[in-house]
Amino acid sequence: MNSRRSFIRKAAALGTTPILSSFINLSEPRLQEIRQEALKKSPEELAADEDFWAQIKQSYTVSPQIINLNNGGVSPSSKPVQESLERLNHYANECPSYYMWGIMDQGREPLRENIAQYAGVSPEEIAFNRNTTEALDTIILGMPLEKGDEVIVCEYDYPNMLNAWQQREMRDGIVLKWIDLKLPSEDKETLIKPYLEAIGPKTKVIHLTHMINYNGQILPIKEIAEAAHKKGIEVVCDGAHTFAHIDFKIPELGCDYFGTSLHKWLGAPIGSGLLWMKKEKIANVYPLLPNPEPKSDNIRKFENLGTRSFMIEQAIGEALNFQYAMGNKRKEARLRYLRNYWAENAKKLSGRISIQTPFKDDLSCALAVVGIDGYKGGEIAKTLFSKFKVHTTGRVKVDINGTRVTPHVYTSLRDLDRLLTGLDYMLKI
Ligand SMILES: Cc1ncc(COP(=O)(O)O)c(C=O)c1O
Repeated sequence: MNSRRSFIRKAAALGTTPILSSFINLSEPRLQEIRQEALKKSPEELAADEDFWAQIKQSYTVSPQIINLNNGGVSPSSKPVQESLERLNHYANECPSYYMWGIMDQGREPLRENIAQYAGVSPEEIAFNRNTTEALDTIILGMPLEKGDEVIVCEYDYPNMLNAWQQREMRDGIVLKWIDLKLPSEDKETLIKPYLEAIGPKTKVIHLTHMINYNGQILPIKEIAEAAHKKGIEVVCDGAHTFAHIDFKIPELGCDYFGTSLHKWLGAPIGSGLLWMKKEKIANVYPLLPNPEPKSDNIRKFENLGTRSFMIEQAIGEALNFQYAMGNKRKEARLRYLRNYWAENAKKLSGRISIQTPFKDDLSCALAVVGIDGYKGGEIAKTLFSKFKVHTTGRVKVDINGTRVTPHVYTSLRDLDRLLTGLDYMLKI
């Protein structure tokens, strides 16, 4: 009896949702308070409520010395997520094979249900893995394509995915058709047209990046996917930067395959990601890391990753709880509010400043690039950090030349004022 009680206590202390529940868990008092406060205002009203966001900041352990404006690269986890991971690590290290494979393993299916519900898809279409690279490489290297089949890509797609496509080109003789995107663009038609014009009789796949890492441009995935499907073409979507950043459900994109990193905007522990694909596609995609039934239509065939951290995986549940406490729409509205604050004020500093990201709501959100005439992107990032301890990341690609600024929910207007001071300094030296 005692050992049973102790087992239940330990299982409960594992936090998140281990074997106990398949429901989103806002039992953590801090999360309940956040939720109650958040519900008092509309997303737009809450976006400008500095007191609320100062309270959110208390849930992070961010550096007081550095102003982190590269949250697009990887997100810090909130305290509840960090604490959950610590708890899980503690138990795992009491007896790893038992706690990982005996207990935490049982948390995977409830977690799959939770995240599927959040993403608006069936749990039978979700596989957990370590990041977008692993998710999309599984698709790119696993889908059936033959010599001469064409895949449409562009230079602004993420290098890891382009490497995978180029490896298939080298090994299997598929052909990459590179389109020319003009960024930034405030006009959906100029983004859609090059993709549709590149479609030919041999086109089998269009690879699309939902939010371009170089400047934060959002692509109109749905419109391109609808046109592609009319011609029997499949669509792969790189959702590294949009999941849990902007408010959407995966099916709204109309794509066939989707990969994302949960350590970006969901704030799950570093090294967590997911792969989604339509149920009817699963049987035709070979897993990257083979299991005994590579032709199975069970999505779990993509999770044969060998020994890895089940603790990281289970702490995703706590990141979901934190996301639900704030709410998607409220988070998105705040991020956009912060982006508009710094970008509009930066533009007023001088005609030498260029914002190389569209302002329209459906074409951008937190990620934006600022350029200064006469400077290379990397130089701006370097000066902002060395003189002002403002951490951004230089971005130079085709028509983009600036530094990428990405606030997060814990970013204050004061932090952004420091960025503006830094930009002003560079204009004057
Ligand atoms: C558009 C895009 N895709 C994929 C990735 C790769 O993400 P990860 O390193 O988590 O696999 C990134 C990383 O920033 C990205 O910006």
